[in-house]
Amino acid sequence: LRNQEEPQKTQVMALNFWEIPRASLKLGRRLGSGNFGQVRLGELRQRGLTTTVAVKTLKDSASDFDQRGLLGELEIMVTVGRHDNLISLVGACTVDGPLCIVVEYAPNGCLKGWLKAGPNAESVYRNQAASKSGPQLPMEQLIQFGIDVASGMSHLAAMQCIHRDLAARNILLGENLVAKVSDFGLSRDIFEDNEYNRSTKGRLPLRWMAYESLFYNVYTTQSDVWSFGVLLWEIMAMGKRPYEGISGKEMMDMIEKGGRLENPRGCPGEIYKLMTSCWMALPEERPTFPDLKASLQRMSQDYQ
Ligand code: ADE
Repeated sequence: LRNQEEPQKTQVMALNFWEIPRASLKLGRRLGSGNFGQVRLGELRQRGLTTTVAVKTLKDSASDFDQRGLLGELEIMVTVGRHDNLISLVGACTVDGPLCIVVEYAPNGCLKGWLKAGPNAESVYRNQAASKSGPQLPMEQLIQFGIDVASGMSHLAAMQCIHRDLAARNILLGENLVAKVSDFGLSRDIFEDNEYNRSTKGRLPLRWMAYESLFYNVYTTQSDVWSFGVLLWEIMAMGKRPYEGISGKEMMDMIEKGGRLENPRGCPGEIYKLMTSCWMALPEERPTFPDLKASLQRMSQDYQ
């Protein structure tokens, strides 16, 4: 987003139907916080109806650069459009105060947390009660998370959007435990150059990064596929940290020599085979997101 375009874009936002009057939004407790931004719980009152939402804002310490980043995130969310497996945009407050991006609230929290807490019978049964056709067994539920994420990512890929930070911590769980990809607005358009990332090496999610991202700074939809493989590993390992016990540097050496994550205990062989196919050194040899979705859907039938 270039500097001189900013006022114009803000103006367009103010005129279009995404604009939310500040007075109709009440902010609550903090849900999460990042380097420059924070997410708060919110209550949105529109036409007599109150809905729970999540609100992304900047911290007071945020710079102009961060401000443009958040506006860019909003722009990407508008462009990408709605999908059941993506956290959707509700609207934004862009005038008369700090920029607020209002998004759908995911009541079941982040996938990593859910996995670490364990798919206890209670949550699985509750889920069943809510939707008759819902998953019956924990393994089916785990595979369903994979199908959901692959669906959301298929849409992002079709919209030519690269996520760059696909990981269980960035997947949120909606009603009925539907998995939704979040923070894709931080992704950059496929056609944009990646100067931004080249200068921020210290904060890179090394353990989720593809071979070509680690060693050549290259990001594509196929490098998102690598990250999806690591995410699938996290799901099957119930939220464990990938490459636990070794440093980022050691992990990079291991990847360079052809080493890969091991099969998590209890993970079916065909699912492990699918994740390892995401870690082929050559991006074009990895499956695509629609391939991954179809494979997982086929496998899921064995667990129904
Ligand atoms: N934490 C960060 N974003 C969230 C969201 N949209 N819903 C619930 N928790 C969140």
